[in-house]
Amino acid sequence: MTWEELLALAAKAGENAYVPYSKFPVGAALECADGTVFTGCNVENAAYGSTICAERTAAVKAVSQGHRDFRRLAIWGLSQDYCYPCGACRQFLYEFNPQLEICCTRAAGDWVVRSLSEFLPYGFRF
Ligand code: THU
Repeated sequence: MTWEELLALAAKAGENAYVPYSKFPVGAALECADGTVFTGCNVENAAYGSTICAERTAAVKAVSQGHRDFRRLAIWGLSQDYCYPCGACRQFLYEFNPQLEICCTRAAGDWVVRSLSEFLPYGFRF
């Protein structure tokens, strides 16, 4: 699967975002070693801190279905700058693969690819 195809799945997932507060939908598509893709969107809550990001939605779906070998992640969001994963998501994903390749898009439609270890050097593990 190309990055474009994975991004298209992330954009599609973003259509289900529940964002009555921020009005900022995010979509994610997480590809595992065997090629299985899990998608996610952000789901907000009136108790704002209970909101879950698109990336963690996808990761939790994967792990709960028995998939832990994350390989690539595409993140779709219509931000001015690239829609980079938040700090909590970086740490959450680091647990499963510090070398995860992450593709981030922005409203202009272009994208960048970085390794999770670039986003989060010295992440926590024990
Ligand atoms: N959000 C994500 O889904 N992923 C990120 O990496 C950054 C932020 C969501 C959370 C919230 O619903 C909205 O974007 C605005 O912060």
